[in-house]
Parts: sequence; C-alpha cells; structure tokens
Amino acid sequence: METTLIILKPDAVQRGIMGRIISRFEDKGLQVVGAKFTQISQDLAARHYADHKEKPFYAGLVSFMTSSPVLVLALRGNGAIAVCRSMMGATFGFKADAGTIRGDFGVSSSFNLIHGSDSPEAATRELELFFNDGEVLDWTPAIQSWVYDMSSGDPE
Ligand code: RTP
Ligand code: MG
Repeated sequence: METTLIILKPDAVQRGIMGRIISRFEDKGLQVVGAKFTQISQDLAARHYADHKEKPFYAGLVSFMTSSPVLVLALRGNGAIAVCRSMMGATFGFKADAGTIRGDFGVSSSFNLIHGSDSPEAATRELELFFNDGEVLDWTPAIQSWVYDMSSGDPE
C-alpha cells in the first residue's frame, strides 16, 4: 500500500469543489489517512516546490499556493501515487483529458486545482513536510474487505 500527498489548492477551496474532488478519490477506493485545512506559509511553499526554484513560473506558483487556504490530504491505497496522478490529469485543465479532475473542473493555464506527489520519494518528503508525527492515522475502513481481495491476508 502506498500513501500519497494531495493538496486541494486555493482555487479548489474558493470554488467550493473540495467535496466533489474528495468524493472521486473515495469512490475509487482510496482511503483518507490524513487531512489538514491550512494556509501554506511562504517558507513551506518554498520547501514544497524547491525543485522548481529556478523556473520562470516559480514566484507566481508560490504566490498562488499561499494566497488562500488549502486542504492537504494523505491518501492511501494500492498504487496510490500513480492512481492519483492519473485521476488528476495533465498539469493544466485546458489540456487535461475529460474524465480527470483537472480536465473536468478547470480550463485555466495557471490555476490547476490539485497537487499530487509524483514518485514514492516525493510522497515521503511531502508527507513529512505537511504532517507531523501522529497526524497520518492507520485505520481499517469497514469496507476494506470488499474494496480489496483480502483472502491472502494482504490487500490485493
Ligand atoms: P503539481 O506538482 O502541483 O502536482 O503539478 P504537476 O506535477 O502537474 O506540475 P509541475 O511540473 O510539478 O509544476 C508544479 C506546479 O507549477 C505550476 N506550473 N506553472 N506556468 C507554467 O508553465 C507552469 N508550469 C507549472 C502549476 O501550478 C503546477 O501544478
Ligand atoms: Mg509536480
């Protein structure tokens, strides 16, 4: 099982579509194991997007991410990192496929609603950035044995 870091960005919160986005992940069978409603500081945005520091869009990106509250989620499931990335779609809504979150909810070439970790290494780093010890919870959903084949003891 993998755990990934998802951020519902300021535009998703302001547009009131957090619930509809979360529902897609829940419908898929992914488990919410952490959630935090917060306004990202300049320092945290800089650390989160450190890989993009030299990019021309970096200043605008940090400004956007710190402009208004976000909902940070830790989502767990089989292949959760790649599953979430494919559900999110291409970076901007005007190019993202219909059926994806960015493809269905946005058309901007700047605001793009959602962040998701893009590798296991990124997920580990980002989960540590946004969640303190004890804030990501191990719990067993009541529906787990119908979302996964548990006959071997492990989710399949
Ligand atoms: P994210 O990291 O937020 O999940 O998005 P991503 O992997 O699809 O895109 P990435 O290349 O990592 O870029 C990070 C964020 O920077 C903004 N961006 N702006 N103006 C531009 O050309 C541009 N390119 C990227 C987006 O907010 C993107 O999500
Ligand atoms: Mg990225």
